[in-house]
Amino acid sequence: MFFKNKTIGILGGGQLGKMTAIAAKKLGYHTFLYCPKGDNPAKYSVNEYILGNWDDNIKLKIFASKVSVITSEFENIPAKTLDNLSKITKVYPSSFCFSIAQFRNKEKEIAAKSGFLVPKWYRIKSLEDLIKYSKILNYNCILKTNSLGYDGKGQINISSEADFNKIWTEINFKDCILEEKINFDREVSILYAKSLNGSECFFPLSENYHENGILKYTIAPAILEKELEIKLKLSVKKFAKLLNLRGLLTIELFQRNNDFIFNEIAPRPHNSFHWTIEGCKNSQFDILVKSIMGQDISNQIINENWKMKNLLGNEIENLSLFNFHKDQKIHIYGKKDVKKGRKMGHITYPI
Ligand SMILES: Nc1ncnc2c1ncn2[C@@H]1O[C@H](COP(=O)(O)OP(=O)(O)O)[C@@H](O)[C@H]1O
Ligand SMILES: [Mg+2]
Repeated sequence: MFFKNKTIGILGGGQLGKMTAIAAKKLGYHTFLYCPKGDNPAKYSVNEYILGNWDDNIKLKIFASKVSVITSEFENIPAKTLDNLSKITKVYPSSFCFSIAQFRNKEKEIAAKSGFLVPKWYRIKSLEDLIKYSKILNYNCILKTNSLGYDGKGQINISSEADFNKIWTEINFKDCILEEKINFDREVSILYAKSLNGSECFFPLSENYHENGILKYTIAPAILEKELEIKLKLSVKKFAKLLNLRGLLTIELFQRNNDFIFNEIAPRPHNSFHWTIEGCKNSQFDILVKSIMGQDISNQIINENWKMKNLLGNEIENLSLFNFHKDQKIHIYGKKDVKKGRKMGHITYPI
């Protein structure tokens, strides 16, 4: 095995874990991956891995005893697992951050405390709740599972023609929220990082385009008036403080005129900041590694404007269609199964 104090543990074997491992290696660290069995592309980029479930305390203990710090690439790792691991080694971002990010009602409550506007929302636990609050929201709303949703999954649009019985059966989840649909001008995301040594940084804003709840592409940096930027950053820092964040925090937002309306958080690397690999002196993955290893994280220097396009589903099989720019860089995640809408890779190029 490697020097424990130079080894980073990564929970979750997807593309975010893979790109974190690549950054860690570049910065001179070893990586040890823990993930359940399955299609885990990160396996091929780490020094060592162990396959196990999130409740396999024996395997988790072995894993934790061999690393100096653990970070998570997957949002739905049980907070209890992170809590147990933190009794053996450092875990950043903490189990508390994940326990908030995993529940839409909790992240919205902290967002409001941090000074963000939040869409009107109601907790939905029955068909009767759904019918009652859909009316209150003028049948212009989205039913979302309170936990476990991703890439637009676990969401159903509600309109005045809604068949509520059918929708309640289809969502098949007893703890939901009903959220006002926001008529936004654009969607943006902001990424903040805080290091164990107390230093911090923001990445420039990303502007995001979704289709069916999945990110299609990002353009960065998004242009924003200085005054709005200052106000936004204050709220983000307040949110991070309430989480006692160490590591990365992305906040997804809707912008309408001069207002930012909170959507959700992710305490991990985020798809809308993949452009930082080419676009910044330190990518989001570099900054994650540096922050959990207690290094200084300086402000980001960026050159040019960037576009990042996700390669979804079978787009990965038609790469010759995507000749956008002579300096484009194609990232292939190496997932075995191609599924409709699945994130298989991405392309970054200057614009
Ligand atoms: N309240 C809303 N109003 C308008 N669009 C929304 C709303 N909630 C979600 N969306 C759209 O669906 C996308 C995915 O929803 P989100 O809540 O971010 O779930 P996920 O966890 O799947 O990313 C958003 O990025 C946005 O494009
Ligand atoms: Mg989202």
